[in-house]
This record gives sequence, structure tokens and C-alpha cells, in this order.
Amino acid sequence: MLVALGVDAHRHADELGEVAVATGASVAFLQTGTPSVVDELDRLAAAGATRVELVGLGLGAPIARSWLRRVAAHWRRTRSGVEVVVAGREVTGDEAPLTSPAWEDVPGHGHHVLVCRGPRCSARGSAATSAAIDDALRAHGLGDDDVLVAQTGCLYPCNHAPVVVVHPDDTWYGGVDAACARRIVVEHLAGGVPLVGQRLPRDG
Ligand code: FES
Repeated sequence: MLVALGVDAHRHADELGEVAVATGASVAFLQTGTPSVVDELDRLAAAGATRVELVGLGLGAPIARSWLRRVAAHWRRTRSGVEVVVAGREVTGDEAPLTSPAWEDVPGHGHHVLVCRGPRCSARGSAATSAAIDDALRAHGLGDDDVLVAQTGCLYPCNHAPVVVVHPDDTWYGGVDAACARRIVVEHLAGGVPLVGQRLPRDG
């Protein structure tokens, strides 16, 4: 099973499908894409598979590959009769769980930023927008406890792509290129003053 690991890996679904056909593998997604790893493991087990080897593909995304083993172990704990292998090592079910005391509470962030990674925004540069926001937050010492950033699917005002939203201020920005993204961090998130020029009107 080829497992795409990154949050926007579903964008590579067609290429992954071609590789899967050429190699006889199946495809699953650690996050956002369909099928999920557990759904694909369920399907293979129902089809009679006795051994499944998972191969994680980063596709350029900086993601900890240990998550693939944790997810496989989560599935393995509820199943028997199928050998699951990740990175050449069998998954036993004794690996770290999906839960942790550190992940219990809703974070105490002051702002929640939504970065649209839908098809129109992605085609018009939201990957660079997202990277610029991350870099600027780091440069200003703003962590998850200050600003929680989430990448999303389409947020609807696609004509203004790339779109970024800042909550709880209910401030919608359009045409957010990397330079604008840096200004949002410096002036709005760090400085407390929303930008004027690229704000989108809000109905209701
Ligand atoms: S794709 Fe971003 S708003 Fe629709």
C-alpha cells in the first residue's frame, strides 16, 4: 500500500494511481484524502490479504513518518490475521497510541487562521501563502498557543484566491500572496490591526 502522508497529498492522487497500477499496489492517505489508511486496510483484509506492507510517501511534505506506524498499530490492535509491515518492520500493536495527555485540551490560541487549499486557491499559489504564514509566525515567535493555523478545502469566495480567514475577528482576506501573508502576520496577528486593502466584504 502506497500511503501519501502530507495534508495536500490528495492533489497527487492521479499520479499515485498511475504508480499503483504499474506496481500492483493500492493507495491510501494518512490525512485528508480518500481512502484513509484504516479504510484501505479494512478493504484489503476483507479481500483476503494476509500481509500488507505500507510505504509512506512524503511528496515533499515535512511530516513525521512515525504517524504511519501509529495509525497502522491502531488498526492492528483491533484486527488479527493480517501481518502489517511499515518501513520493513512488522507492526505489533504495542506501538505508541493515537492519544496522549498532551492532546487533550483545545489550545488556548488567540487567533485561528484558515488558509484555503482548495482547488482554485491551490492553483493560484496558496502553497506559497501557507509557507509564508508559517515562516512569518516563526520569525515573530508566534506558536500554536498564539495562532493556530489550519489548511482547509474551498471556503467559497474562490474568485479572490488565495483566501485566508482570521478568527475570531471574522476577517476574510483575498488575493493573499506571500507578501500579503507576511503583512497579515506582522500587522494583524502580531500588531492587532487588520489590513484594509485586501479585506473581503462579509455578508450577514
Ligand atoms: S478554492 Fe479557495 S475559496 Fe474556493
